[in-house]
Amino acid sequence: MNVLNSFSLADKTVLVTGASSGIGAHLARVASSAGARVVLAARRVERLQQLEEEIRQADGNALAVVLDVTDRNSVEAAFDAAEAAFGVVDVVLNNAGIGHSQGVLDISEADWQAMLSTNLDGVWRVAQCAAQRLVKAKRPGSIINIASILGLRVGAGLSHYCAAKAGVVQLSKSLAMELARYQIRVNAIAPGYFKTEMNDAYFDSETGLAYIRNVVPMRRLGSLQELEGPFLLLASEAGAFMTGAVLAVDGGHLVGSL
Ligand code: NAI
Repeated sequence: MNVLNSFSLADKTVLVTGASSGIGAHLARVASSAGARVVLAARRVERLQQLEEEIRQADGNALAVVLDVTDRNSVEAAFDAAEAAFGVVDVVLNNAGIGHSQGVLDISEADWQAMLSTNLDGVWRVAQCAAQRLVKAKRPGSIINIASILGLRVGAGLSHYCAAKAGVVQLSKSLAMELARYQIRVNAIAPGYFKTEMNDAYFDSETGLAYIRNVVPMRRLGSLQELEGPFLLLASEAGAFMTGAVLAVDGGHLVGSL
């Protein structure tokens, strides 16, 4: 038997939140290449439909669904649509998120709520909805939450983002503990810096590039391909005994020298 078979997602339904760009769009393509039926969920439906078409052209199975993680009804409706097309969702990539820098003295109540409501409450809402449906169907599953190295350390101008991502780290561990008895695994990936729409202006600037050269031991940004292995490990049977783990994928950023 080929040892790589355990990384296969054949016959699995994978739902990716925030699949309209960046990490989510990339890992949705990867899930499809690994054999999964993929539910592409986000707010920008035209972008999702393009990706759906791309995956179908490559002989994959994909479905675009509108999803706003801040809205319970929208989350339930997305899972209903996924189930109607492909059956119960086996794997969730809880990836939708926002991020921008704002000094702690300038953050308004609305700014704080917006950040927490997407980056923490949204992750909880989607994970809970997925878990409730898996338990009801008596099926095992895997939930992968995208946290950040900023959930483990702090960065200037990002107090709301850091607090939300630290919440995602602890939420992932708590869910892992409570859901293990149902054969539902919950793990987090803590990415370092990857250039996406969230941060491309900064990483196109000399300041951004100098920051990376000076503080990341590998002295470079990550490429989206470098998230594929960690994602497949946690999503597939290859990671069957892993739950409650937080995998840093960061070029050594967290172990940068003080
Ligand atoms: P991105 O901006 O390309 O993707 C974020 C996605 O989330 C987009 O598809 C956006 O439409 C979606 N989204 C935002 N609010 C939503 C909502 N209310 N409902 C549904 N979808 C929503 O950025 P990127 O980098 O791909 O971000 C993906 C995740 O990775 C985020 O959770 C981010 O915090 C995290 N991350 C990114 C890092 C990076 O360096 N790019 C580093 C660490 C974590």
